Amino acid sequence: MAENKVLVAGATGLLGSQITANLLDRGASVRALVRPGIDGEKKAALDALQARGLELVEGDITDDVDKLAEALKGVRTVVSAVQGGPEVITDGQENLLRAAEKAGVSRFVPSDFAIDIFKLDYEDNFMIDMRKRAAERLAGSPVSVLSVLNGAFMEVMIAFMGIVDFEQGTFSHWGDPDQPMDLTSIADTAAYTAAAVLDETLAGGAVRFAGEVVSMRQFHTAVEAATGRSFEFRTLGTADELRAEIERLAKESDNPFDYVALQYQWGMVTGKAKFDSLDNDRYPEIVPVAVEEFVRANAPKA
Ligand SMILES: NC(=O)c1ccc[n+]([C@@H]2O[C@H](COP(=O)([O-])OP(=O)(O)OC[C@H]3O[C@@H](n4cnc5c(N)ncnc54)[C@H](OP(=O)(O)O)[C@@H]3O)[C@@H](O)[C@H]2O)c1
Repeated sequence: MAENKVLVAGATGLLGSQITANLLDRGASVRALVRPGIDGEKKAALDALQARGLELVEGDITDDVDKLAEALKGVRTVVSAVQGGPEVITDGQENLLRAAEKAGVSRFVPSDFAIDIFKLDYEDNFMIDMRKRAAERLAGSPVSVLSVLNGAFMEVMIAFMGIVDFEQGTFSHWGDPDQPMDLTSIADTAAYTAAAVLDETLAGGAVRFAGEVVSMRQFHTAVEAATGRSFEFRTLGTADELRAEIERLAKESDNPFDYVALQYQWGMVTGKAKFDSLDNDRYPEIVPVAVEEFVRANAPKA
């Protein structure tokens, strides 16, 4: 049997670096596709992974397909953990898949790592639109495509989402406070991804993981328990009012990053992007961190 070599694109990123480390932990042979000119902390992190056996190949997922196919020689699985605009997520990942086809790769894991992109519609979330478009273009390839979905990163839920204000002591949410949501830490997402990537019994499709499934009310309780502080629970409006707020902001701004956090929240608090089932049980050796424990370790210190 050919060696199960994995190529990771995005190995210098937040998630990709941890996926790479987890693959090495599991004894996989790993090659990283790295853009030229990496320096500073990213270079130091790559050096540490190289010392553990990581192979490097220079390249960009938007490179010429033949050049990329060279970089993919001998690779069984390609894992993409890239981030960027449509030129990266849609066109770039399609380009990487075409190179994977040329190189005889068996499986491709696209950079999805989100709430259920297959349940959302176009225009619900501009970041997810790029991934849905990519999925359409990857469909029908002889390379089997496996999406790994993890809900929202816990890291994002206590920062970027703007829900918890640790300074002001407020917890501000939209929609039904009792709607369950799928949350996973970056470390656990990486651990589950590595397990799925090396799992020969998985065909294409999607696997779904959650570190913990909690409602906004339970998330609030976990934040209070973890910090020993009280946080004012503020309901900003219904899910429909949230949708109207997103539309208002979209009219006002050319920059979708001004409202994408709200688009993610809408997908979650309506339940539209909620996982119907979880695949955690496939890998019982992974014991994911729960929200309270995560907040205890990661809340900003007063
Ligand atoms: N579920 C959630 O809550 C959540 C939250 C955040 C992110 N995510 C997802 O996780 C995935 C990874 O995100 P991240 O935050 O880890 O991203 P990140 O830290 O910004 O890293 C992005 C990686 O992509 C690489 N890259 C970008 N363009 C490339 C290109 N043209 N060719 C080759 N490599 C390229 C970057 O390389 P350089 O180092 O050269 O720039 C870097 O390694 C994304 O799918 C993202 O949407 C999910």
